[in-house]
Amino acid sequence: MRASAAGAGSPGRGLSGRIGVPGDKSISHRALMFGALAVGTTEITGLLEGEDVLRTAAAMRALGAEVERVAPGHWRVAGRGVGGLVEPADVLDMGNSGTAARLICGLLAGHPVFAVLTGDASLRGRPMRRVTEPLSACGARFTGRAGGRLPLAVEGAADPLPLDYVLPVPSAQVKSAVLLAGLCARGITRVEEPEATRDHTENMLRHFGAVLRVEAEGHRRVIELEGQPELRAAPVVVPADPSSAAFPLVAALLVPGSRVTVAGVGLNPLRTGLFATLREMGADLVVSGARVEGGESVGDVTASFSELRGVDVPGSRAPSMIDEYPVLAVAAAFARGTTRLRGLGELRVKESDRLAATVALLAACGVAASVEGDDLVIARDGARAPGGGTVVTHMDHRIAMSALVMGLASERPVAVDDTGFIDTSFPGFVGMMNGLAGGAVIAPVDGAASPPGGVP
Ligand code: S3P
Repeated sequence: MRASAAGAGSPGRGLSGRIGVPGDKSISHRALMFGALAVGTTEITGLLEGEDVLRTAAAMRALGAEVERVAPGHWRVAGRGVGGLVEPADVLDMGNSGTAARLICGLLAGHPVFAVLTGDASLRGRPMRRVTEPLSACGARFTGRAGGRLPLAVEGAADPLPLDYVLPVPSAQVKSAVLLAGLCARGITRVEEPEATRDHTENMLRHFGAVLRVEAEGHRRVIELEGQPELRAAPVVVPADPSSAAFPLVAALLVPGSRVTVAGVGLNPLRTGLFATLREMGADLVVSGARVEGGESVGDVTASFSELRGVDVPGSRAPSMIDEYPVLAVAAAFARGTTRLRGLGELRVKESDRLAATVALLAACGVAASVEGDDLVIARDGARAPGGGTVVTHMDHRIAMSALVMGLASERPVAVDDTGFIDTSFPGFVGMMNGLAGGAVIAPVDGAASPPGGVP
C-alpha cells in the first residue's frame, strides 16, 4: 500500500461544527482563464488552491499572463486581452484536471500558437475528442494518441471561424471550450445544449463584459456569444464548492447525533441536484443566509443526522449533480428502500470510471449495488452499512473522500489505498473532518495496521 493510504472509523459521537470548505473548482479555473484573457488586473478571492487549479494557474503563466498569489486564496492576474495569449515554451501538464485540459483546448484553438498538452495517467486516459472534434471546425488542428487522448499537440487557428454546435453529451466542459474558442472568432458562436449544464462560463463572460444571449426552454439552452469582445478585468469572489461541501454534509446526515454547517456554499441552481435529492430522501438539510456574492447565489447549509429513504433520481438531474454521485451512493447505502440513480453514462469518463469505482466502493463495504444499463441501483433496509473493506481510489479524489465518509458512518472502519488525490479539489479535507469529529477518526494506515476509530 502507498504511504498515503488512510482509514476512517466511527467517531463514536456526532460530527459537529461550522466550517468553510475550499473555493469552487469550476469557478476557480475560469477566474484564472478569464483573468488571463482580460485587459487589466483581475483580483480573485477565495480561489481553490488545489492541485487542479494550480495547474491552470501555471498554464496561464506559460501562456503569458502574470499570475501572482497575494495571500491564501487571494490571487491577481494581469491579462493579455482576447487573442493575446502567447505560445508556451514547454509542454503544458494539466495533472489530473479534465476541466483545465478541455477548457485550455478551447483557449488555444482561437490563438495562432503551437502547444502540447499532457496530464497524469488518469487524464491521459480520458476522452478529448469531445472537444477536439468541434474545435477543429474553427480551423484549429489537434493531433493526439489513439482515441484523441493526451498528450495532444494543438495548432491554434490564426483566424478562427465561429462555431455552431449542438452538444451530443451534456458537458459544461465541452460547452465552455467552444465558447472560449468563440471569444477569438469574428461573428456569433452558438452552442445548443439539450440538457442545461453548469453555467459558470456564461456568468463569467457577462461579468467580464462579453455580450451573450441565452435562450432557455425547459432543460434546453441556446447560447450565443458575440466574438472578439474586449474583456475587462473584474473582481471574482469564489464561493465555497458545493461539490466539496457534499462530503461533510453527507457525513453529518449519516453519523448519528451530527449537526454540521458549511458556510457560504455556492447554490447555483445548476449545481444543487444533490441537495434536492437528499431532501427527497428525507434529509434534514437547511439553507440559511441565502445571498448573492460575486454574481453567484450562496448560502449556509446545515445538515443534521437523518434517517434516509431510497429514491428514484431522473437522468435529467445528472448534470446538476454529476460529481456528487459517489457520495450520494454512500448515502443510499444507509437508506431504507431502493435508490435508483438514472442516466449515469458520463460517470464512466470522469477521473476514473466512477460508475465501476462506486460499485466497487460499495462492494468493499458490504453493500450490494447493480448497474442496469446506465442506472445504478442500491437496495437497502436502513441498517448501517457494514464497512470493513479497503477501497481502491483509481486516482480519483471523489472516490477517496466518499470512501472515507463511508468509514465514518459504517459499522466497521474503511481504508482507502491512496488519499493523495484529495488535494486536487479539497486540500485540508482530512483535518477538517477530524475537527468535526473531535479526534483523529481519519488517519494514515500502513496497510498492516487497522484504520482508526471503530467505536461500535
Ligand atoms: C466541470 C464540469 C463537469 C464536472 C467537472 C467540472 C466544469 O464535467 O464533472 O468536475 O468545471 O465545467 P462535464 O462538463 O464534462 O460533465
